[in-house]
Amino acid sequence: MTDEELVQKAIEYRKNSYSPYSHFAVGAAVLTKSGKVFGGCNIENASYPVGICAERTAISKAVSEGERDIVALAVVGDTPGPCSPCGMCRQFISEFKIPKIIMANLKDVRKTVTLEELLPFGFTDSDM
Ligand code: THU
Repeated sequence: MTDEELVQKAIEYRKNSYSPYSHFAVGAAVLTKSGKVFGGCNIENASYPVGICAERTAISKAVSEGERDIVALAVVGDTPGPCSPCGMCRQFISEFKIPKIIMANLKDVRKTVTLEELLPFGFTDSDM
């Protein structure tokens, strides 16, 4: 699967976004080493902090299916520039050492970064 195909999957899953409070729909998709794709969207809640971001939904779906070896993550929002993962998602992405993060919007903006670029000086298991 190409990076652009993974972005297109994220765009598809964005359509399932449950975001009645922010009206900001986000989609994400992860590709596993075994070639499987898991998608996710943001799911908000009347108690705002209970909501979950698209990236953590997609990663949770992969991990809960026994697929921890994730090789790439794409995230998409209707943003002027590349849709950037929040701090909590960066930490979540870091836990599973996802080496490639593709940030995109609904137009043709794509920005691919490494985990190290996404979360420099991150706290990991090696710090414990
Ligand atoms: N959101 C994501 O899904 N991913 C991010 O990395 C940034 C923020 C969601 C959370 C909330 O539902 C909405 O976007 C507005 O913050």
